Order: sequence, then C-alpha cells, then structure tokens
Amino acid sequence: MYEQWRAIHNLTRWLVLISAGAALFAVYRGFWQQRVFGVLERRLGLLFTIVYGVQIVLGLVLYGLSPYGIRALRVLMVVPERNTELAFFGAYHLLVMLVSFVPVQLGYSLAKRPNESRRKYIYAMAGYTLGTLGILVAIPWWRPWLRLF
Ligand code: HEM
Repeated sequence: MYEQWRAIHNLTRWLVLISAGAALFAVYRGFWQQRVFGVLERRLGLLFTIVYGVQIVLGLVLYGLSPYGIRALRVLMVVPERNTELAFFGAYHLLVMLVSFVPVQLGYSLAKRPNESRRKYIYAMAGYTLGTLGILVAIPWWRPWLRLF
C-alpha cells in the first residue's frame, strides 16, 4: 500500500508540473499580448489549483503511511536533525508544499473577480509563479523521476 501510494504521488507530480506550466504559459502570454483574460486562462488556473490540491491530499495520506512522514516527525522530536531526508520529508516538504498552495489559490481567486484583464493577469502571474517556485524547490529531485508499481 505504501509503495503503491508513493508511486502514485511520484507520478502525479508530473501532472502538477504540467498543469503549472500550462497555467503560467497562458497568463504570461495573455499579459504580454494584451489579450482579454478569458475562459482559457481561468480554466487553466482552475486546473492547476485542482491538480495541486489533489496532490496535497495524496501527499497527506502518504504522510500517514511513509516512514518519512508522521513517523519521521516523531523521531525528529526526540533527536532533532536538520540535514537528513527525515527532516526534509517530515517537515520541509510538507510545510513548503502547503504554504505554496496559498499564492496559487489566491492568484486564481483574485483573477476570477470582476476586474480589468491586466490586473487579473498580474494576480495570476504573481500567485502561480510564487507557488510554482515553492513546488520546484520542495520536490525531492534526487529521488527517482518515475517509479513503476
Ligand atoms: C502537503 C503536501 C504533501 C505532503 C504531506 C507530501 C508528503 C510526502 C512524503 C511523506 C513523501 C516521502 C515518500 C517516501 O519516500 O516515503 C513524499 C515524496 C514525494 N513528494 Fe510529496 N507531499 C506533498 C506534496 C507534494 C507535491 C505538491 C509534490 C509535487 C508537485 C510532491 C512530490 C513528491 C515527490 C516527487 C516525492 C518523491 C516520491 C518518490 O520517492 O518516489 N509532494 N511526499
């Protein structure tokens, strides 16, 4: 169960990155080309927010199953360490992934409000860029890029 869940969480990371890339591309292009902030821009933002949200839920379940999740946190409380995989997954990965969701959600929600397109783009660009940077920093790139079940 744990290994399968980890493989899914590994794979869905690419869906998060693809949806982030698509949303970013749409809002930066729309901003530079001075397009109207339309259905496509809004839907791609929604897709990114949903896929990211689902990945967080998958991650939280994995946090319960993995030796690097809640169990790591318990170990760290007894023996605090900073530069280990235990600390990375037990604390940093969880925190950065949760915190980075805030600008993405905010960018999407603010861009949905009635406003001029330029302002919508600015909210979306700022939110998605910040969130994606957080995701990129918190992905354990040294782990396998694809895990087969
Ligand atoms: C609150 C949100 C999240 C939690 C609680 C969480 C939790 C975890 C845990 C506990 C592991 C360690 C798995 C293990 O080796 O036992 C892990 C690995 C990983 N996480 Fe997350 N995660 C979250 C969000 C994300 C997001 C948003 C992404 C990417 C978009 C991501 C990408 C990964 C990757 C690539 C791995 C490595 C998996 C592997 O070694 O195959 N996680 N996560």
